Amino acid sequence: MPEMTMPETPMPEVRTLENPAPAARKSFLSEAICYRLSEKAERVRWRMEDVPWAEIKPGTVSPEWLELIRQSAYSELTTFTASQRFLKDFWDDADFSQWVSVWFYEEMRHPQALLKWLGHFGVTVDAEFMLQGRGTAPFMKSRMGTLVSNIISEMVAATNYHSLHVHSPEPVLAGIALNLSNDEARHASSFYAYAKIHLARSQNPERDRRDALKVLYLWFQDNDRVKHPVNEFLGRQAASSADGSYLRHAQQVFGAVKLRACKRIGKLVGLAIATPEDVLRHLG
Ligand SMILES: [Fe+2]
Ligand SMILES: [Fe+2]
Repeated sequence: MPEMTMPETPMPEVRTLENPAPAARKSFLSEAICYRLSEKAERVRWRMEDVPWAEIKPGTVSPEWLELIRQSAYSELTTFTASQRFLKDFWDDADFSQWVSVWFYEEMRHPQALLKWLGHFGVTVDAEFMLQGRGTAPFMKSRMGTLVSNIISEMVAATNYHSLHVHSPEPVLAGIALNLSNDEARHASSFYAYAKIHLARSQNPERDRRDALKVLYLWFQDNDRVKHPVNEFLGRQAASSADGSYLRHAQQVFGAVKLRACKRIGKLVGLAIATPEDVLRHLG
Protein backbone atom coordinates (compact mmCIF):
# COMPACT_ATOMS: atom_id res chain seq x y z
CA MET A 1 0.00 0.00 0.00
CA PRO A 2 1.48 3.31 -0.99
CA GLU A 3 2.42 5.60 1.84
CA MET A 4 -0.23 8.19 2.63
CA THR A 5 0.92 11.78 2.58
CA MET A 6 -1.07 14.46 4.28
CA PRO A 7 -1.78 17.44 2.08
CA GLU A 8 0.10 20.49 3.31
CA THR A 9 -2.14 23.11 4.85
CA PRO A 10 -0.73 26.61 4.61
CA MET A 11 0.01 28.22 7.96
CA PRO A 12 -2.36 31.11 8.60
CA GLU A 13 -0.61 34.47 8.39
CA VAL A 14 -0.05 36.10 11.75
CA ARG A 15 -2.14 39.26 11.97
CA THR A 16 -0.85 42.15 14.00
CA LEU A 17 -1.56 45.85 14.14
CA GLU A 18 1.16 46.37 11.54
CA ASN A 19 -0.13 43.51 9.39
CA PRO A 20 -3.93 43.59 9.55
CA ALA A 21 -6.26 41.40 7.50
CA PRO A 22 -6.61 42.82 3.95
CA ALA A 23 -10.24 43.79 4.55
CA ALA A 24 -9.16 45.96 7.50
CA ARG A 25 -6.58 47.92 5.46
CA LYS A 26 -7.94 51.25 4.39
CA SER A 27 -7.30 52.44 0.87
CA PHE A 28 -4.82 55.26 0.35
CA LEU A 29 -7.56 57.22 -1.36
CA SER A 30 -9.88 57.07 1.65
CA GLU A 31 -7.18 57.68 4.24
CA ALA A 32 -4.71 60.17 2.77
CA ILE A 33 -5.39 63.85 3.51
CA CYS A 34 -3.10 65.00 0.68
CA TYR A 35 -6.13 64.92 -1.66
CA ARG A 36 -8.10 67.34 0.51
CA LEU A 37 -5.10 69.61 1.06
CA SER A 38 -4.16 69.64 -2.64
CA GLU A 39 -7.72 70.43 -3.71
CA LYS A 40 -7.87 73.32 -1.25
CA ALA A 41 -4.50 74.56 -2.53
CA GLU A 42 -5.79 74.50 -6.11
CA ARG A 43 -8.95 76.40 -5.16
CA VAL A 44 -7.14 79.28 -3.47
CA ARG A 45 -3.85 79.37 -5.39
CA TRP A 46 -2.86 82.75 -6.82
CA ARG A 47 -1.47 83.00 -10.32
CA MET A 48 1.86 84.59 -11.14
CA GLU A 49 0.41 86.16 -14.30
CA ASP A 50 -2.38 87.82 -12.28
CA VAL A 51 0.11 89.94 -10.33
CA PRO A 52 -0.20 93.43 -11.87
CA TRP A 53 3.49 93.67 -12.77
CA ALA A 54 2.86 96.54 -15.23
CA GLU A 55 1.63 98.76 -12.36
CA ILE A 56 5.02 98.79 -10.61
CA LYS A 57 6.53 102.25 -10.74
CA PRO A 58 10.34 102.02 -10.80
CA GLY A 59 12.22 104.38 -8.52
CA THR A 60 9.59 104.51 -5.79
CA VAL A 61 11.30 102.19 -3.28
CA SER A 62 14.38 102.86 -1.14
CA PRO A 63 17.54 100.71 -1.43
CA GLU A 64 16.94 99.47 2.17
CA TRP A 65 13.58 98.03 1.21
CA LEU A 66 15.03 96.41 -1.89
CA GLU A 67 17.72 94.76 0.23
CA LEU A 68 15.11 93.52 2.73
CA ILE A 69 13.12 91.87 -0.06
CA ARG A 70 16.30 90.38 -1.53
CA GLN A 71 17.09 88.82 1.85
CA SER A 72 13.55 87.58 2.18
CA ALA A 73 13.77 85.85 -1.22
CA TYR A 74 17.10 84.33 -0.16
CA SER A 75 15.52 82.86 2.99
CA GLU A 76 12.76 81.28 0.92
CA LEU A 77 15.30 79.31 -1.14
CA THR A 78 15.98 76.97 1.80
CA THR A 79 12.74 75.16 0.94
CA PHE A 80 14.70 73.34 -1.75
CA THR A 81 16.90 71.59 0.82
CA ALA A 82 14.06 71.18 3.30
CA SER A 83 12.00 69.33 0.68
CA GLN A 84 14.91 66.99 -0.02
CA ARG A 85 15.12 66.26 3.71
CA PHE A 86 11.38 65.74 4.01
CA LEU A 87 11.41 63.23 1.15
CA LYS A 88 14.38 61.39 2.71
CA ASP A 89 13.33 61.43 6.38
CA PHE A 90 9.61 60.82 5.78
CA TRP A 91 10.12 58.46 2.81
CA ASP A 92 7.82 55.83 4.35
CA ASP A 93 4.95 58.27 4.93
CA ALA A 94 3.10 58.00 1.60
CA ASP A 95 0.52 60.66 2.43
CA PHE A 96 2.85 63.36 3.77
CA SER A 97 5.47 62.85 1.06
CA GLN A 98 2.78 63.35 -1.59
CA TRP A 99 1.83 66.65 0.03
CA VAL A 100 5.48 67.77 0.14
CA SER A 101 5.28 68.11 -3.67
CA VAL A 102 2.52 70.73 -3.26
CA TRP A 103 4.43 72.51 -0.51
CA PHE A 104 7.66 72.60 -2.53
CA TYR A 105 5.90 73.96 -5.61
CA GLU A 106 4.15 76.71 -3.67
CA GLU A 107 7.22 77.67 -1.66
CA MET A 108 9.40 77.97 -4.74
CA ARG A 109 6.97 80.52 -6.17
CA HIS A 110 7.68 82.79 -3.19
CA PRO A 111 11.29 83.68 -4.11
CA GLN A 112 10.31 83.69 -7.78
CA ALA A 113 7.65 86.35 -7.17
CA LEU A 114 9.89 88.46 -4.91
CA LEU A 115 12.81 88.30 -7.35
CA LYS A 116 10.55 89.19 -10.27
CA TRP A 117 9.34 92.24 -8.31
CA LEU A 118 12.96 93.19 -7.54
CA GLY A 119 13.79 92.90 -11.25
CA HIS A 120 11.53 95.90 -11.89
CA PHE A 121 13.91 97.96 -9.74
CA GLY A 122 17.03 96.72 -11.50
CA VAL A 123 17.94 94.30 -8.68
CA THR A 124 18.99 90.98 -10.16
CA VAL A 125 20.61 87.87 -8.70
CA ASP A 126 22.69 85.16 -10.34
CA ALA A 127 22.47 81.35 -10.24
CA GLU A 128 25.07 81.29 -7.44
CA PHE A 129 22.69 83.30 -5.21
CA MET A 130 19.93 80.78 -6.01
CA LEU A 131 22.17 77.83 -5.10
CA GLN A 132 23.74 79.40 -1.99
CA GLY A 133 20.29 80.12 -0.58
CA ARG A 134 19.56 76.40 -0.43
CA GLY A 135 21.76 75.86 2.61
CA THR A 136 19.67 75.16 5.69
CA ALA A 137 19.94 74.02 9.28
CA PRO A 138 19.86 70.24 9.88
CA PHE A 139 16.52 68.63 10.67
CA MET A 140 15.75 67.35 14.13
CA LYS A 141 15.86 63.64 14.84
CA SER A 142 12.25 63.69 16.02
CA ARG A 143 9.62 63.67 13.28
CA MET A 144 7.13 65.23 15.65
CA GLY A 145 9.68 67.95 16.48
CA THR A 146 10.23 68.64 12.78
CA LEU A 147 6.50 68.91 12.06
CA VAL A 148 5.89 71.20 15.03
CA SER A 149 8.85 73.41 14.14
CA ASN A 150 7.36 73.82 10.68
CA ILE A 151 3.89 74.68 12.04
CA ILE A 152 5.51 77.47 14.04
CA SER A 153 7.82 78.71 11.29
CA GLU A 154 4.90 78.89 8.85
CA MET A 155 2.88 80.86 11.42
CA VAL A 156 5.78 83.26 11.90
CA ALA A 157 6.31 83.58 8.13
CA ALA A 158 2.58 84.26 7.59
CA THR A 159 2.76 86.99 10.22
CA ASN A 160 5.90 88.53 8.72
CA TYR A 161 4.41 88.67 5.26
CA HIS A 162 1.23 90.17 6.65
CA SER A 163 3.33 92.90 8.26
CA LEU A 164 4.99 93.43 4.90
CA HIS A 165 1.57 93.64 3.28
CA VAL A 166 0.50 96.36 5.74
CA HIS A 167 3.74 98.36 5.62
CA SER A 168 4.90 97.84 2.05
CA PRO A 169 6.13 101.03 0.39
CA GLU A 170 4.74 99.83 -2.95
CA PRO A 171 1.23 98.47 -3.77
CA VAL A 172 2.20 95.54 -6.00
CA LEU A 173 4.61 94.28 -3.32
CA ALA A 174 1.79 94.64 -0.79
CA GLY A 175 -0.36 92.34 -2.94
CA ILE A 176 2.42 89.78 -3.37
CA ALA A 177 3.02 89.81 0.40
CA LEU A 178 -0.66 89.09 1.07
CA ASN A 179 -0.57 86.12 -1.33
CA LEU A 180 2.53 84.78 0.41
CA SER A 181 1.05 85.34 3.86
CA ASN A 182 -2.07 83.35 2.94
CA ASP A 183 0.08 80.53 1.54
CA GLU A 184 2.16 80.34 4.72
CA ALA A 185 -0.94 80.32 6.97
CA ARG A 186 -2.39 77.43 4.95
CA HIS A 187 0.94 75.58 5.15
CA ALA A 188 0.86 75.95 8.94
CA SER A 189 -2.58 74.30 8.97
CA SER A 190 -1.35 71.48 6.72
CA PHE A 191 1.69 70.76 8.90
CA TYR A 192 -0.68 70.81 11.89
CA ALA A 193 -2.93 68.21 10.23
CA TYR A 194 0.06 65.91 9.64
CA ALA A 195 1.37 66.42 13.17
CA LYS A 196 -2.04 65.40 14.50
CA ILE A 197 -2.03 62.22 12.42
CA HIS A 198 1.54 61.47 13.50
CA LEU A 199 0.57 61.80 17.15
CA ALA A 200 -2.58 59.66 16.76
CA ARG A 201 -0.51 56.84 15.23
CA SER A 202 2.53 57.28 17.46
CA GLN A 203 4.10 54.26 19.17
CA ASN A 204 5.26 56.63 21.88
CA PRO A 205 2.79 59.54 22.15
CA GLU A 206 4.24 60.76 25.45
CA ARG A 207 7.69 61.21 23.93
CA ASP A 208 6.18 62.93 20.88
CA ARG A 209 4.17 65.32 23.07
CA ARG A 210 7.35 66.21 24.95
CA ASP A 211 9.21 66.75 21.67
CA ALA A 212 6.42 69.10 20.55
CA LEU A 213 6.66 71.07 23.79
CA LYS A 214 10.46 71.24 23.67
CA VAL A 215 10.35 72.70 20.15
CA LEU A 216 7.70 75.22 21.15
CA TYR A 217 9.73 76.28 24.16
CA LEU A 218 12.97 76.63 22.19
CA TRP A 219 11.27 78.63 19.46
CA PHE A 220 10.11 81.40 21.71
CA GLN A 221 12.10 81.21 24.91
CA ASP A 222 15.55 80.91 23.45
CA ASN A 223 15.17 81.98 19.88
CA ASP A 224 18.87 81.98 19.04
CA ARG A 225 19.16 78.26 19.61
CA VAL A 226 16.68 77.28 16.93
CA LYS A 227 18.50 77.62 13.65
CA HIS A 228 15.67 77.97 11.21
CA PRO A 229 15.49 80.05 8.04
CA VAL A 230 12.63 82.20 9.30
CA ASN A 231 14.52 82.85 12.53
CA GLU A 232 17.62 83.73 10.61
CA PHE A 233 15.53 86.03 8.44
CA LEU A 234 14.13 87.73 11.55
CA GLY A 235 17.65 88.21 12.87
CA ARG A 236 18.73 89.83 9.65
CA GLN A 237 15.60 91.98 9.64
CA ALA A 238 16.41 93.30 13.10
CA ALA A 239 19.92 94.19 11.88
CA SER A 240 18.63 95.86 8.76
CA SER A 241 18.14 99.59 8.53
CA ALA A 242 14.86 99.25 6.62
CA ASP A 243 11.84 101.27 7.60
CA GLY A 244 11.54 101.47 11.39
CA SER A 245 7.75 101.30 11.56
CA TYR A 246 7.76 97.96 9.75
CA LEU A 247 10.30 96.53 12.19
CA ARG A 248 8.38 97.84 15.20
CA HIS A 249 5.19 96.35 13.84
CA ALA A 250 6.98 93.03 13.12
CA GLN A 251 8.23 92.91 16.72
CA GLN A 252 4.74 93.55 18.09
CA VAL A 253 3.14 90.88 15.98
CA PHE A 254 5.92 88.45 16.86
CA GLY A 255 4.69 88.70 20.47
CA ALA A 256 1.16 87.95 19.28
CA VAL A 257 2.17 85.00 17.11
CA LYS A 258 4.10 83.57 20.04
CA LEU A 259 0.88 83.38 22.08
CA ARG A 260 -1.09 81.96 19.15
CA ALA A 261 1.55 79.26 18.64
CA CYS A 262 1.44 78.35 22.34
CA LYS A 263 -2.32 77.90 22.13
CA ARG A 264 -2.17 75.94 18.90
CA ILE A 265 0.58 73.51 19.93
CA GLY A 266 -1.17 73.16 23.30
CA LYS A 267 -4.30 72.09 21.45
CA LEU A 268 -2.26 69.64 19.38
CA VAL A 269 -0.89 67.87 22.47
CA GLY A 270 -4.08 68.24 24.54
CA LEU A 271 -2.82 70.80 27.08
CA ALA A 272 -3.91 74.33 27.94
CA ILE A 273 -0.85 76.45 27.13
CA ALA A 274 -1.00 80.24 27.10
CA THR A 275 2.68 81.25 27.34
CA PRO A 276 6.17 79.70 26.99
CA GLU A 277 6.32 79.62 30.79
CA ASP A 278 3.35 77.23 30.78
CA VAL A 279 5.35 74.97 28.47
CA LEU A 280 8.18 74.85 30.96
CA ARG A 281 5.74 73.86 33.71
CA HIS A 282 4.46 70.95 31.61
CA LEU A 283 7.98 69.84 30.71
CA GLY A 284 8.69 69.82 34.42
FE1 LIG B 1 7.44 80.75 1.85
FE1 LIG C 1 5.15 78.08 3.72
